[in-house]
Amino acid sequence: MADTMQGLKRTHYCGEVIEAEIGSEVVVSGWVQRARDLGNLIFIDLRDRTGVVQLAFGDQTDREIFEKAAGVRSEYVLMAKGLLRKRESVNKEIKTGEVEIFVTDLRVLAKSETPPFEISDTVNVKEELRLKYRYLDLRRSVMQQALMARHRIVKIARDYFDRNGFIEIETPVLIKSTPEGARDYLVPSRVHPGEFYALPQSPQLYKQLLMLAGYDRYMQVARCFRDEDLRADRQPEFTQIDIEMSFVDENDVMTMNEGFIKKVFKEVLGVEVQTPFRRIPYDEAMDRYGIDKPDTRFGLELCNITDIVKNTGFKVFAGATGEGYSVRGINVKGAAATLTRKEIDKLTDFVKTYKAKGLAFSRYTADGVSSSFEKFLTPEEVAAIHERMGFEEGDVLLIVADRNKVVFDSLGQLRNHLAKMLHLYEEGTYDLLWVTDFPLFEYDEDEGRWTAMHHPFTCPKLEDVDKLLSDPGHTYARAYDIVLNGVELGGGSIRINDPEIQTKMFEAIGLTDEQAQERFGFLLNAFKYGVPPHGGMAYGLDRLVMLMLGKETIKDVIAFPKVQNASDLMTDCPSPIDQKDLDVLHIKVAE
Ligand code: AMO
Ligand code: AMP
Repeated sequence: MADTMQGLKRTHYCGEVIEAEIGSEVVVSGWVQRARDLGNLIFIDLRDRTGVVQLAFGDQTDREIFEKAAGVRSEYVLMAKGLLRKRESVNKEIKTGEVEIFVTDLRVLAKSETPPFEISDTVNVKEELRLKYRYLDLRRSVMQQALMARHRIVKIARDYFDRNGFIEIETPVLIKSTPEGARDYLVPSRVHPGEFYALPQSPQLYKQLLMLAGYDRYMQVARCFRDEDLRADRQPEFTQIDIEMSFVDENDVMTMNEGFIKKVFKEVLGVEVQTPFRRIPYDEAMDRYGIDKPDTRFGLELCNITDIVKNTGFKVFAGATGEGYSVRGINVKGAAATLTRKEIDKLTDFVKTYKAKGLAFSRYTADGVSSSFEKFLTPEEVAAIHERMGFEEGDVLLIVADRNKVVFDSLGQLRNHLAKMLHLYEEGTYDLLWVTDFPLFEYDEDEGRWTAMHHPFTCPKLEDVDKLLSDPGHTYARAYDIVLNGVELGGGSIRINDPEIQTKMFEAIGLTDEQAQERFGFLLNAFKYGVPPHGGMAYGLDRLVMLMLGKETIKDVIAFPKVQNASDLMTDCPSPIDQKDLDVLHIKVAE
């Protein structure tokens, strides 16, 4: 039988015993990090979420307690009473390293089997094992620090928005399926055979309805669900800090949110970020960085040389100069020594994963220029390219000729890849910016129609309203994304509050009146009853925490995340359901 806590009450957390006076009596509790039995001396490191403290047992320890201490193993749960005293051999690694507790009462509250991996920050085991035993993984100090920081960030968000007049309102999790964007997670209805709820991809429509209902400023720490492929910064369920405001324009929303970011960085990291953040229009971001979430901690900007090679004899380039095509490149300054032919071959494979057909290059070393394409060009064309790209000894030019989408995708990713590879930025710096003036639509090749780039409730720029149907490719949105170190941290927009524009918008994305009514009838109806101008945005909370804490993946800041194939290794879910339970839901699984 395990001991009980009877007669003992914790006085201090392990990591906080230094707040007590030397010589005073303290009671601590926690898990055994390590037990060292030196024969006549026993030392036990006891851990809780605040840190570790050393328990000491020696000649003067009551024999019964000493025996008990000798039987203690890693991860046992203990409660110990004792006298706080100065330690003989100081441990500078930990904050309680100058003290120890000379134990006068010891309780073994629970035993533990030997865990499948050591509970330590430097543990080097497969992620699958850590996730299968996530509750043990979560005992590690790095995980506890991360989740406590996450709590702080959420608390600061709630306080900040509260102080600015925002009200937190919960919106439903079982909602009507309105597919647009990612795939919905569906929930079958028992009461309505063959009908389904969807889990929300975001509270978007509800928060707009709350504006219509007069709540003026809304916020919610909202769980969202999207059935899409996982990546380092994507989980099937994730959390947004979601906000919406009435009677505002883009600047009001951005300014309010800059205030939040400033505060959270200051309070959690002690970092002063400068506001307002830089604003880069989408077209400029694409032109200079090839990506709508640029990392501007380093240069390597794209250079357009389409006009120079328009009439060249080199088919690869000349063939990519028509409408919707271009030839662009990056000058990797001073990298000629590092980027050998072999390395360039690897970079070529890299851009091929983004559908580029090749990667043309010129390397300028002390031996002169070696190039994969210059021999096909006239000396004038070569000179013009060198001049435009600022090509000097030591440099490497990397060029892609293709459809704009492929050129931007491959060079945008190559730029980030090179920066990481060549260490072109300092870790621990924060590059915050807004990307503004997004196109309203993007063309979906597969479906052969225009789709909303953000969502179909995003307001077009006033001057573009007339072009919605006649020239959708050249309409811009009142939308903005916030970007941190090349990651899309959040995004939002001013919404459509004019039913006429909303109808046109649906028409532009190919929804018939009936389809629009069927999917969004409740919203269209609601908008007949006086909807204020409004707008807002949502942050990916997981991403914010990940970036602030310098983690590589959002799994490291989520208590119970899913893995690549969207399963939970700890509970082994999803899992099959008995047919009799499916029958109740009117469901039969196809073989
Ligand atoms: P959006 O779809 O851009 O906008 O989502 C907002 C932010 O949520 C985060 N995010 C994710 N984080 C982790 N895993 C995912 N699968 C995932 N998907 C998105 C991103 C993203 O920037 N309702 C609109 C917001 C608005 O217009 O107000 C929306 O959901 O950080
Ligand atoms: P080739 O004539 O096919 O040997 O190509 C000459 C050089 O152009 C090689 O370095 C190829 O990698 C490169 N190349 C081929 N296609 C493209 C393209 N679409 N964009 C950029 N470079 C390319």
